[in-house]
Amino acid sequence: MLRTHTCGELTAEHVGQEVTLCGWVDTCRDHSGVLFVDLRDRHGRTQIVFGAEGGPESRELARSLRSEFVLAVTGKVAPRPEGTVNPKLRTGEIEVRVTRVEVLNPSLTPPFQPSQRELPGEDLRLKYRYLDLRRPDMQRTLLLRHRMIAIMRDYFDALGFIDVETPILGRSTPEGARDYLVPSRIQQGTFYALPQSPQLYKQILMIAGYDRYVQIARCFRDEDLRADRQPEFTQLDLEMAFVEMDDVMGVIDGLVVRLAKEILGLDVKLPLPRMTYDEAMERFGHDAPDLRFGMELVDLTDLARDCEFRVFRDAAQGGGRVRALNAKGAAERYSRKGIDELTAFVQNDFGAKGLIWFKVDADGKLASPTAKNVAPDILAAIGRRMDAAPGDLLLIVADQFEITCKALYGLRKRLGTELKLFDPRQVHFSWVVEFPMFAWDDEENGWSAMHHPFTSPRKQDREMLKTDPGACRAQAYDLIVNGYEAGGGTIRIHNQPLQQDVFRLLGIDDETAKNRFGFLLDALQYGAPPHGGIALGIDRLVMIFGGLSNIRDCIAFPKTQRATDVMTGAPGEVDAKQLRELGIQITR
Ligand code: AMO
Repeated sequence: MLRTHTCGELTAEHVGQEVTLCGWVDTCRDHSGVLFVDLRDRHGRTQIVFGAEGGPESRELARSLRSEFVLAVTGKVAPRPEGTVNPKLRTGEIEVRVTRVEVLNPSLTPPFQPSQRELPGEDLRLKYRYLDLRRPDMQRTLLLRHRMIAIMRDYFDALGFIDVETPILGRSTPEGARDYLVPSRIQQGTFYALPQSPQLYKQILMIAGYDRYVQIARCFRDEDLRADRQPEFTQLDLEMAFVEMDDVMGVIDGLVVRLAKEILGLDVKLPLPRMTYDEAMERFGHDAPDLRFGMELVDLTDLARDCEFRVFRDAAQGGGRVRALNAKGAAERYSRKGIDELTAFVQNDFGAKGLIWFKVDADGKLASPTAKNVAPDILAAIGRRMDAAPGDLLLIVADQFEITCKALYGLRKRLGTELKLFDPRQVHFSWVVEFPMFAWDDEENGWSAMHHPFTSPRKQDREMLKTDPGACRAQAYDLIVNGYEAGGGTIRIHNQPLQQDVFRLLGIDDETAKNRFGFLLDALQYGAPPHGGIALGIDRLVMIFGGLSNIRDCIAFPKTQRATDVMTGAPGEVDAKQLRELGIQITR
């Protein structure tokens, strides 16, 4: 070893010992001819003093040191002079008085200092990721990620799950995104698809009798990126045989309790709150509601139906809904201009026709320019239903159900942050269950799978597959953390005729099904056990546990919004020879 200790471990106990440290020059300071260097590695920082002990040579060399030079320094550990102790640092009581120093490698002037307080632009951070990863914040996050994964592995091992790797070069697995394709050289004109998830392989493992499978699995999805999405991400993927919904959820409950305790020191109480998809849409307008605060949606459709105010009446009588939020005590906070901004927000971002609002005055009456259009008894009934008190701001959307959901979900989220309705350090877990099996796709003019096509309907809904697919509910469950979908899973279809029925409903004819999923349809006929599973998004969990707002900060080498790696330049062009070998011609 080139070093005896790391830069984060020397304390008063080591005083008098000769040590050798290796690390990067964090800062240099000259105090009346004595040079002080903070030497940094991922374990911490240690103050190094170039005084008389090292002789003129080392002092001379010290003067040539610059940020991010890599050094090996040998010297004696000494207590810091009185008044210079730094209680915030583990190494704050000591310094190392240098007797020998070696520059292991100089550095160019870095485009930013890993220790600088203000964050450099993200492009720069990603281009020089090796410098960015030297920042203590990034080190903390990667360490957090490592610890969370270590706990997961330990937890599942103790429960008898076995880790099986599944292929990266495979056949397309439909998870609702576009595939990344890899051309085959040996069979020109054919392509592998990178896995959107190991879904079909883990089901095959159940059929093969490996009744508890787990994998930390890389997944690839070519979809529009957002702050919580990456084209290449990591799942904690698992599958179990001979189980029902509660068994799979119970295993995840146990993991959540352990992660929260060991990582955050939080005691999570079981059972976790659970609501159905329908309830979530009614109460929050979304299937991944943030339950750190209340402000639930209130339905006013019945009151609006016979109201003389046309906006209400038209929505209620035209098959739409009139739904509202009560921003408690927020009347003062939002001026007319502020409300105009909220109106523009629901119109532009969610396609709502408008936003109707009332402020509750000191007498408890609803006041706004709209109030004169609504009969006093209806206004009073709205106030009662919404638990209105003086100083409240009531916000109402009258529209098609989907639009009221989107607009009020967006508003609730925005107001939750603006009005500081929750403690950002809180971590809240819950389950949303029984999603619809299918969603109607206007573009395709047909049904699409809400989760994936291998999901089993609830037993009591099976008959409805033929009569009313839209009303069928699935044996599906999502783990929700702070308003993010942190995981999703289902009990699977384990018999071939039902799987074929679902494929047909999804517009996958028998020929296509045989071609794409023939291996699954075959395997289902060779003794497939009942089975189900789930996958958690590890990057998202790290983001939430780390109190971060961007998934890119949880991944060592992430892609930009445009799905590029600016450090390596991927994706890049390839040689003409490589293309020839693959039989591919670029036509653009
Ligand atoms: P699903 O598609 O719901 O289910 O994915 C599971 C979890 O993976 C995370 N996730 C993502 N994280 C980052 N970037 C992305 N682009 C991204 N897409 C998804 C989410 C999500 O909850 N095979 C099924 C699981 C199963 O049925 O067992 C599946 O992949 O946190």
